[in-house]
Amino acid sequence: RAVYLDGLAGRTPAVPSAPAPLEDAARRAMSEEAWAYVAGEAGAERTVDANRAAFARHRIVPRVLRGAEPRDLSTALLGQALPAPLMLAPIGVLEMAHPDADLAVARAAAALGVPFVFSSQASVPMEATAAAMDAVRPGAPRLFQLYWSTDDDLVRSFVRRAEACGCSAIVLTLDTTLLGWRPRDLDLGSLPFLHGMGIAQYTSDPVFVSKLDHPLPDPPADPPLRLATVRAGLGQARRVPGATLDNLRSQKARKAVQRFVATYSRPSLTWDDLGLLREATSLPVVLKGILHPDDARRALDAGVDGVVVSNHGGRQIDAEVASLDALPGVVEAVDGRMPVLFDSGIRNGADVFVARALGADAVLLGRPYVYGLAIDGERGVRTVVENVVAELDLTMGLAGCHALDDVGPEMLTTATA
Ligand code: FNR
Repeated sequence: RAVYLDGLAGRTPAVPSAPAPLEDAARRAMSEEAWAYVAGEAGAERTVDANRAAFARHRIVPRVLRGAEPRDLSTALLGQALPAPLMLAPIGVLEMAHPDADLAVARAAAALGVPFVFSSQASVPMEATAAAMDAVRPGAPRLFQLYWSTDDDLVRSFVRRAEACGCSAIVLTLDTTLLGWRPRDLDLGSLPFLHGMGIAQYTSDPVFVSKLDHPLPDPPADPPLRLATVRAGLGQARRVPGATLDNLRSQKARKAVQRFVATYSRPSLTWDDLGLLREATSLPVVLKGILHPDDARRALDAGVDGVVVSNHGGRQIDAEVASLDALPGVVEAVDGRMPVLFDSGIRNGADVFVARALGADAVLLGRPYVYGLAIDGERGVRTVVENVVAELDLTMGLAGCHALDDVGPEMLTTATA
């Protein structure tokens, strides 16, 4: 409604309401390097196209005269009440999009009551992000996304900090044990971590900082960042954000980057390792990056509390299965025994409807909120999220759905053209 009223008053919104213009405006607002990092994908960049093509194959078949008023978009997930089936995905290095980075996203999310998943690769330490949320709405919902370090002490420390920050679950991302082959970043030589960006969770961590003067561990057989490191040149470390390192000499800052590169992720991780996480926390554990039904069954056997069907927005594997195409298989395997979340390709409210109809309990919004952030900071994030929720509400109303339980597979048909 606000958009239309602004239109009547002759004002056009700073943040465009449709996906393509939003992307265009964000591209104009970002540096070449930031755009490459946020919009970039793995390899020949086929997976994002696949994500969108999968959405295009599903069409909504509305029902009429069902008196779809009032509507209720709320849902319960992992013991939390959500105003809509939507969270903000963990996105690293948000400082590339906007200087307020995670803090702006935190304030927007808190104002709307939409959960924000803090990234392991955030630009701001989780304590500051949590405080920014609490300043807007005490106890505003938040989760923590974990990359499993080669250093178990660091894993435990991150989890302890997430608990202290009021995070309601640990989202363990499994599709990024090695960083994907991302030509746009490689060709610009702009891999942000090598410039000390996106490592604030590490440089603000007592365990990480205490080990800065220790010799580096032997490099893993296949170091996660090896190829990228060679191409971009580790010697370029320029700055390390994060208050706790402000007083460090550049020598130490470079050490922090080197230690981060050597320890941030463990390619050798197996199902057997999950026990350590279970012991380290009583919080629910959600596995992000599940695409195969057998892995979903394995996750159930491992006693985790949820999964996120995701291909990491096409950033990890080129020519990968579309996340939406993988969703029904995972939903069938899980059979209601734990929540199934979804991301990779959500661009508007109708997409949320389609994912929900295919069995997702909730979705994670990724790049679109970063585009809002780049264009207009906190307000931009808020506008993007409001638009997605408003469009979901309208789509449900026009399709004859009172509540999310009405949004099932019978509301969809397959496109013939
Ligand atoms: C991500 N994603 C991500 N995931 C994660 O678990 N930890 C992280 O730090 C990041 N960082 C990150 C940075 C950027 C710039 C992007 C675009 C994505 C993946 C993210 O959580 C989500 O899975 C995807 O964004 C979903 O794809 P779309 O819908 O954004 O295309």
